[in-house]
Amino acid sequence: EETGKSGYDHYMIKEIHEQPRALRQCLRERVDEMAGTVDLDDLGDLSPTGVQFVACGTSYHAALYGAHLFREAGIPAQAFLASEYATSVPPIGDALVIGVTQSGETADTLSALRAAEKRGARTLVVTNVVGSTAARECDHAFYIRAGPEIGVAASKTFSSQLAALNLLTLGMTQGDDTREVINALRELPGDLQRILDESSAEAVAELYQDAGAYFFIGRGLQFPVALEGALKMKEITYKHAEGFAAGELKHGPLALVTADTPVFAVVIGDDEKARKTVGNVKEVEARDAPVVAITDGQTDVHRYADHVLQIPETHPRAAAVLANAHLQLLSYHTAAKLGRNIDKPRNLAKSVTVE
Ligand code: AGP
Repeated sequence: EETGKSGYDHYMIKEIHEQPRALRQCLRERVDEMAGTVDLDDLGDLSPTGVQFVACGTSYHAALYGAHLFREAGIPAQAFLASEYATSVPPIGDALVIGVTQSGETADTLSALRAAEKRGARTLVVTNVVGSTAARECDHAFYIRAGPEIGVAASKTFSSQLAALNLLTLGMTQGDDTREVINALRELPGDLQRILDESSAEAVAELYQDAGAYFFIGRGLQFPVALEGALKMKEITYKHAEGFAAGELKHGPLALVTADTPVFAVVIGDDEKARKTVGNVKEVEARDAPVVAITDGQTDVHRYADHVLQIPETHPRAAAVLANAHLQLLSYHTAAKLGRNIDKPRNLAKSVTVE
């Protein structure tokens, strides 16, 4: 087992550090950098008029991100929690139903995909495991090629899912910014490596390890990052953590915000979305909450933050992966300081095969 960890204390931190390599594997052979195109020939002609994603947990957060990408490309898309989808299947029409599942064995996701298939839908799975049940049962399989993930808490497979969903959208739609996204994806492994080498997330973890609760906020593409930041924190530290759409804070959760609840705000770019999130940061700062900004520095959010976890300026799609890496390190180091069983958190299994 120690050899399997290659000198790291836990599989999770090893897998966090494997992300640059995992991303390179995911992108290799799919991206033609000269032509600025993505090759999905093995999947046949999919050209969907609509997309429904089904997934659970971390994979659901990737699905939310994926649905956002399709909508940006003008294709109606929605992400559903697989357990809810199977209970009340929405009208599918001729939408493509995409399951996102690292293991390809999650019972809720399989059940949702089967329900869709029963209604005549075309199905595709985005998975890490060749030969998994989902890969065998779906019409098409897109492999994220992240390599085996042992830690119960997903890390490298989440970033590879995000990269894979970019490739899927770019390959299936005619986006104006395809070349720009491909360039950002190409730079992602190097940018991620620098964050892994230089992040001050461990120092932030040290400061807030005794906090009563942790809140994560983000907007648009950064909303799934906030949800994932909170899920990771819950899973491996056993602390109360919640992710919110930044704009929802004032509709209730703000009542929970105190000087004992650090708020982690993902603020990328300097568009209207980012500026509105800075407004939400001001609201929590005014309630004495410690603020940690995960930002590329394009807004003045640092003025309201106690700490900044910096990411380089890049495309917002790539920024989501980079921001998430800081949050993975934050949860990991908090859990390590609290002495938690990081690779096998209580009550959780790597693959959930019951509904
Ligand atoms: C992730 O950290 C969790 N262990 C969990 O939410 C997981 O993502 C979920 O159970 C779905 O698993 P899957 O991707 O294998 O379908």
